[in-house]
Amino acid sequence: MTHYSRITGTGSYLPPNRLTNAQLAAELAVKGVETSDEWIVERTGIKARHFAAPDVTSSDLGLEAAKRAIEAAGLQAADIDLIIVATSTPDMVFPSVACILQHKLGIAGCPAFDLQAVCSGFVYALTVADAMIKSGAASKALVIGAEVFSRILDFSDRTTCVLFGDGAGAVVLEASETPGILASDLHADGKHVGILCVPGHVSGGQVLGSPLLTMDGKAVFKLAVGVLDSAARAALAKANLHETDIDWLIPHQANLRIMHSTAKKLKLPLEKLIVTVDQHGNTSAASIPLALDEAVRSGKVKKGDILMLEGVGGGFTWGAVLLKY
Ligand code: ACO
Repeated sequence: MTHYSRITGTGSYLPPNRLTNAQLAAELAVKGVETSDEWIVERTGIKARHFAAPDVTSSDLGLEAAKRAIEAAGLQAADIDLIIVATSTPDMVFPSVACILQHKLGIAGCPAFDLQAVCSGFVYALTVADAMIKSGAASKALVIGAEVFSRILDFSDRTTCVLFGDGAGAVVLEASETPGILASDLHADGKHVGILCVPGHVSGGQVLGSPLLTMDGKAVFKLAVGVLDSAARAALAKANLHETDIDWLIPHQANLRIMHSTAKKLKLPLEKLIVTVDQHGNTSAASIPLALDEAVRSGKVKKGDILMLEGVGGGFTWGAVLLKY
């Protein structure tokens, strides 16, 4: 039995097609949908997002992020003995993105599955991988967040289509005698299903309901700011640490106003907040590992730093993972 799991490598990937707010606004104007760079920046902090080409899937984006994480960990793909992919935009109804990605990585045999908790997917997946490593079921896990949200956006709805982007982030989580993941705190409340959903399913060869994202932005905003700091505090309490011990807050990147509000509630200066939402938009389950990888590669996050990762999303789901990098 190992005592801890520890992140030993990070990686991320963004599809090359980058759209600024002005470029997106121009494309939407052709369809009679009115928006502006000014509105998007003021309400969300988003300045640009990346959209995958039509034939590029979550497993393609996740594969690139995974390769980079494996390389950063100093491992080979064959060393990986567990793959968990957090996604709400899988390549197929089944099998899982994790199985498709495993094959693209050129390996076979290890357990591979998807985890669906929308924008909280990565903190959920990290928690599951940590538990499997601690139980002895795995020792070198690949935990990935990969999304192509552009596929489920309603480009006639300006209240949602300006908010999201595509991308992937990954970490290698290894068994370790030193910390590591210190604590996590996960929650869900299914009574809020309707405020953020893609209310469709495949039936008899057709999509019943809608295959596009719908959101009550104000309701989501209110719930998000209410739950994020309580999950973070619960994780701190489990690890016997305090807000002042946090070196970096790496929240789900949905809206800069929500992120600022959480940092303020945790009494953290904004310099301790990792922000990538301005360049990526909301990439759902990919946003936290994308932000983490950027923070590691830019030299902000250093070995031994205490990181608070936290996410909130459809379900409603929310949670936090506290770790020593
Ligand atoms: N461009 C221009 N105007 C717009 C746009 C747009 N893209 N979208 C809405 N408007 C207009 C509205 O029509 C409204 O006009 P009106 O006053 O004439 O009716 C006005 O702007 C204000 O709209 P509100 O909805 O009140 O704007 P608000 O300040 O609430 O911001 C937003 C909307 C950005 C969606 C906000 O509610 C929000 O960020 N909510 C949280 C969303 C979120 O974080 N979701 C993801 C979390 S979970 C997950 O990631 C899956």
